[in-house]
Amino acid sequence: MRHIQVKQGETAEATADRPWWHSATIYEIALISFQDSNGDGKGDLAGLLSRIDYLTWLGVDAVWLTPIYRSPFRDLGYDISDYCSIDPAFGTLDDFDLLVGRLHDAGIRLILDLVPNHTANDHAWFVESRSSRDNAKADWYVWADPAENGGPPNNWLSRFGGSAWEWCETRGQYYYHSFLVEQPDLNWRNPQVRAAIADVMRFWLDRGVDGFRVDASAVLIKDELLRDNPPNPDAGGKPPPQRLTPVFTDDRPETMQCIEDIRNVIDEYPGRLLCGEVQGKTDRIGHFYGNHRPRLHLPLNFALLDSPWNALSLQAAIDAYLNALPSQAWPVWVIGGHDKQRIASRIGEAQMRILAMLLMSLRGTPFFYMGDEIGRERVSIPPDRIRDPFEKLVPGYGLCRDPERAPMRWDDSPNGGFTDGRPWLPLGPSDSRNVAGEQRDDHSILALFRKLIALRREQPCLREGEQQPLRSQNDVFAFKRVWNGDEILVLLNICAEPRKWHGQGRGRLLMSTHLDRQPQPLPDGSVLLRGDEGVMIAVARP
Ligand code: GLC
Repeated sequence: MRHIQVKQGETAEATADRPWWHSATIYEIALISFQDSNGDGKGDLAGLLSRIDYLTWLGVDAVWLTPIYRSPFRDLGYDISDYCSIDPAFGTLDDFDLLVGRLHDAGIRLILDLVPNHTANDHAWFVESRSSRDNAKADWYVWADPAENGGPPNNWLSRFGGSAWEWCETRGQYYYHSFLVEQPDLNWRNPQVRAAIADVMRFWLDRGVDGFRVDASAVLIKDELLRDNPPNPDAGGKPPPQRLTPVFTDDRPETMQCIEDIRNVIDEYPGRLLCGEVQGKTDRIGHFYGNHRPRLHLPLNFALLDSPWNALSLQAAIDAYLNALPSQAWPVWVIGGHDKQRIASRIGEAQMRILAMLLMSLRGTPFFYMGDEIGRERVSIPPDRIRDPFEKLVPGYGLCRDPERAPMRWDDSPNGGFTDGRPWLPLGPSDSRNVAGEQRDDHSILALFRKLIALRREQPCLREGEQQPLRSQNDVFAFKRVWNGDEILVLLNICAEPRKWHGQGRGRLLMSTHLDRQPQPLPDGSVLLRGDEGVMIAVARP
């Protein structure tokens, strides 16, 4: 196993005293949509290997890959048939080892998706479990007897529609599935299951993986008494799976013990990261960090995506999140993902540039999703090409996830440089944003992302500094980062008209989201922001 190289600009002090993810920028890649190497229309490990130069050029410090394990692929690989092998469409374990080595040589860490809540129904564990009521794995999944009327044991709903219980003739029992019928939930009350997942983690950690993103971490344990979920009073207009409030299926107290167990395995390997998909309102975030017993290092936080796009709402969302963090917790900010609608489609390119500056200047680890850096928008998917099982089962709510899962557009050729074959999902029009075109343009949003990533690496104040709120003025969202006597002021104009910021002292303009202002002194710190412009200002010491 090769070890990670220390990057230029990373001081020994930063690497020795603080976990690496405090200063890392993390990039999510849906492997199937990144780069195809063999013409089958699906991205793969060899394709990713061939794009390491791009990752290095962009400056990201770690990549998180969506599941790469053997899978029938009914749910983007979140239905796993074998946790310890690579799906043949993606490559082999040798390809994987090569990739880890090359990424590490480039100073880039690798995070895998860990899917502990459920397997695919063709996983050997489930095949055995469903074969009888008394086999060695009989209790590895969530089995229950029928209700008195012979129907499902209770009213629990699958997130993908319909009852969450599926009848199994052989056992004369139902099994529980939080998601698809083909994704049975593992029984996390069973210590053997916990031990088996711990071994899966060690298998990958031994191969040099730098951490995991835990999928669906809030639903690992379900109510032991199988009590009915109550109706959801806010269900109006929401899709049928949200008709009930999932108090007995989600975020049960015992689930936190499972996360602690997972964390214990991570802690056997110094320097590895545990992040996770969590649920609930901002004020629940602290409990996913843990208190006396540590849980996730980074519970993923989507507050920026969920906030209305105006200065006051953003300020409120950011303050609420930071205020909800336990004192030692390190913040994290996510602006995109394989389940999330592309925010560029909602706020537009001009404001997407503002979001880029916001993400890269907040205190906490920034996460973005492949394509965010080119301002990629949702790709329209014709009905006959839809692959997302959620959209097939719960259509009509505008929640299809394929538009953000469309393959990466590397250039303006019809298949975007992604594949020589037929892409598994359409890429959208060839005149849409692409990497090559934006690499040629010094003012592109891609150039902006790259510059912001580099600036963050150069400036300890942006990585480590305290975050101090300022009162937003007239559509300008403002805050300060403060470190060791240095201060950086971030001013973001969340509207399309110019806005004046009244400063209170000398400063030096570091950069503008328009990428057309040279670093320059600002005599009294005041600045006229153009429409959709964000700037960072180094405040002069008195
Ligand atoms: C997580 C994944 C999502 C998947 C679900 C079921 O929420 O992010 O893509 O459908 O788990 O595994």
